[in-house]
Amino acid sequence: MAEQAHAPEHPAYPVGLRLSGRRVVVIGGGQVAQRRLPALIAAGADILLVSPSATPSVEAMAASGEIRWEQRRYADGDLSDAWYVLIATADTEANAEASAEAERTRTWCVRSDDAGAATAWTPATGRSEGVTVAVLTGRDPRRSAAVRDAIVEGLRDGTLAAPHHRTRTPGVALVGGGPGDPDLITVRGRRLLAEADVVIADRLGPRDLLDELPPHVEVIDAAKIPYGRYMAQEAINNALIEHAKAGKAVVRLKGGDPFVFGRGMEEAEALAQAGIPCTVVPGISSSISVPGAVGIPVTHRGVAHEFTVVSGHVAPDDDRSLVDWPALARLRGTLVVLMGVDKIGAIAQTLVANGRDPHTPVALIQEGTTAAERRVDANLATVAETVVAEDVRPPAVIVIGEVVAVGPRNRQ
Ligand SMILES: C[S@@+](CC[C@H](N)C(=O)[O-])C[C@H]1O[C@@H](n2cnc3c(N)ncnc32)[C@H](O)[C@@H]1O
Repeated sequence: MAEQAHAPEHPAYPVGLRLSGRRVVVIGGGQVAQRRLPALIAAGADILLVSPSATPSVEAMAASGEIRWEQRRYADGDLSDAWYVLIATADTEANAEASAEAERTRTWCVRSDDAGAATAWTPATGRSEGVTVAVLTGRDPRRSAAVRDAIVEGLRDGTLAAPHHRTRTPGVALVGGGPGDPDLITVRGRRLLAEADVVIADRLGPRDLLDELPPHVEVIDAAKIPYGRYMAQEAINNALIEHAKAGKAVVRLKGGDPFVFGRGMEEAEALAQAGIPCTVVPGISSSISVPGAVGIPVTHRGVAHEFTVVSGHVAPDDDRSLVDWPALARLRGTLVVLMGVDKIGAIAQTLVANGRDPHTPVALIQEGTTAAERRVDANLATVAETVVAEDVRPPAVIVIGEVVAVGPRNRQ
């Protein structure tokens, strides 16, 4: 046994254990077990935990029936039905006894206290799109984790795509690109972008990402699609359909989230009618992220228990408006107005006329999360003139409410 434990010249032999329904015994219910148990549970193992104590998270796994917990010290014979054992206690004697039983019963055994005495090592693992990555670097877990992270990230963002071996998402992906900062798109959105043949992009959103696309990718500016006798939206729908029918992987890159004032559902419906599969990738909406980026929380304990996101593209007295502004004026919480720069004077006036305090703070954040980001502060009484004096322009998110004044960056 001692000789085997000190034979580092042979690398470990990697293998994927199929543990579903098979007994795995975990000795010790501390931090190591807490980290390892979720993957064992996900693998469907029949898990027996033997430990006098457990962390609250491990206790919760036992309480929910995901694992069976015998609250006691390890005893000889505990491994009798085990296929695999994880030894992770601070009790060195128990570790050595359990390890000896594992050796006797030919059960693969991982030891958190002494990798050299173990018969198996846990690789650093990660998953992306049906690929399981497992990395072993001998006894350097940090390096294993770093290599694993690099591979998983490469798979997720498409830089390690191995394109011939992956199943491409068919049809069109409606991808929410976030508010503008290229780091604020989702991992899935970025990967689909890296796999695209055609990208139809809005003016808003992470334009910088388009520069990174390889030259063969056709990038179409949605605002410049010629629409002749069609409405602009119909022209975009048709472009999506045509490219998808030509067998291209199409990404419709939209600012923020596709379904927050983004006409995403109109595009999804048009694609459904044309029989084209459509994947929706949610995005980080500017309505929350742009205020957040300048340090304004849309809710804050004791200040605002609700936030309402409204479109301000038509004035409150316009027949086309679907917004009940008098009702909003009676709310105490945060109001976030998108597309409202042009109409903010009328909006503020309506809110005050219907009971909102004219001193309510207002922040306008123009081109949030981009290099051109700019914040202008006012209140409901002054905002109309401030917008003109400061030349605030779209795109801007307007936040109305006491939250504008909370937080270290906002208290003057
Ligand atoms: C047609 S809406 C689309 C909203 C988008 N789907 C979202 O979830 O953020 C466009 C409006 O969103 C807001 N907006 C989007 N990105 C912004 C940004 N980076 N900075 C400020 N406002 C932004 C502006 O109010 C703009 O007029």
